[in-house]
Formats: sequence, C-alpha cells, structure tokens
Amino acid sequence: MEQKKENILISEEQIKKRISELGKEISRNYKNKNLYVLSLLRGSFIYTADLVRQITTPTRIGFMTTSSYGNAEISTGMVKVVNDIPDNIEGLDVLIVDDIVDTGITMDFVVNHVKSLGASSVKSCVLLDKPERRKVNIKPDYCCFEIPDVFVVGYGLNYGDFYRNIPYIFNWEEK
Ligand code: IMP
Ligand code: MG
Repeated sequence: MEQKKENILISEEQIKKRISELGKEISRNYKNKNLYVLSLLRGSFIYTADLVRQITTPTRIGFMTTSSYGNAEISTGMVKVVNDIPDNIEGLDVLIVDDIVDTGITMDFVVNHVKSLGASSVKSCVLLDKPERRKVNIKPDYCCFEIPDVFVVGYGLNYGDFYRNIPYIFNWEEK
C-alpha cells in the first residue's frame, strides 16, 4: 500500500456531475417501464448508491456477485456466479450496473444470464469504459467516462481489496 502514487484521473465533482446527467437520461428512458437495477458487487456498490438516488423512475434494486477466475489484472476469461440475483426478473427491464467494462467478459456473461432468466430488456450502465482492452464485442449502453488502458482505483474499484472507499478515481501505479 505504501507504494501507491496518487494520480487523480476523475475528481469527485466530475463524477457527481456525470452521474446526475446519467440519472436524468435513465429516468427519461425508463418512464413507464419496469426498471430493475442489478448492481454487480463489490465494485459497483458506491456507483449504484449514487446513481439510484438520481433516478426518479420507480425502481427495484438487486445485487449479484460474480468473480472472474484469476485476478483483477489477468482475467482467465471465465466468470463464476458467487451470489445470484435474489428476485424473479421475468418481464422486467433490467439495467446492469457495474464499475468498469474492461475485457467485457463479465458484462457479456451477466447480460446473457439476465436474458436467460426472461427479462423484457437488458441494458448495461457502467462508471468506466476501457475500450482498448476489449476481448468480447460489447459496448455499454450507458457510461460515465471512457478511460485509456491504465489501472484505476477508488470509488468502488480496488487493488488488493483496498482503495474502494477513496471518493475519486485515481491511476494506480507501482513504483
Ligand atoms: P472485465 O474484464 O470487463 O470482465 O472486468 C472485470 C472486472 O475487472 C471489473 O468489474 C473490475 O472489478 C475489474 N477491473 C478491470 N479493470 C480494472 C481497473 O482498472 N481497476 C480495478 N478493477 C478493474
Ligand atoms: Mg467488478
């Protein structure tokens, strides 16, 4: 931990402003729909909490935990369901919320999982998108910020299980 060098990429103010814009857009698009926000733990817990408070459409909120075999930096391409969706989502308009789309493997897996459970519609909403690292062809439907191929932490994102509580996004570099 003492090796960290803080290099702020996205500030608290920028995050707040962007989430407010996205919340308005989602509220408009999900008017008269059966919105179900599916938050992927643990990375999206802060983002979800801030985002849903900017959504004015009635919504249910559920959590799911997945893990990729390997570690955060080297994904093996396989996703495991650690805790599944706790509700029947048949006929609902599911919005999957995650911290980041990196290789895209996690989001692609969850989208297919949600579809297989009979959701009426499935869309993805991420805080960050790292398009350069993509391994599967997937583009988030809603995204706050596109970032270059750097490892970031803070605002829910971790390195070695630390830094999730830092209120902004910074570039984590080992010296
Ligand atoms: P995927 O490669 O798109 O499947 O991303 C899987 C997960 O890797 C994300 O939900 C994050 O938890 C983690 N991840 C990817 N890039 C970063 C990063 O830059 N910092 C922290 N976690 C990351
Ligand atoms: Mg994650």
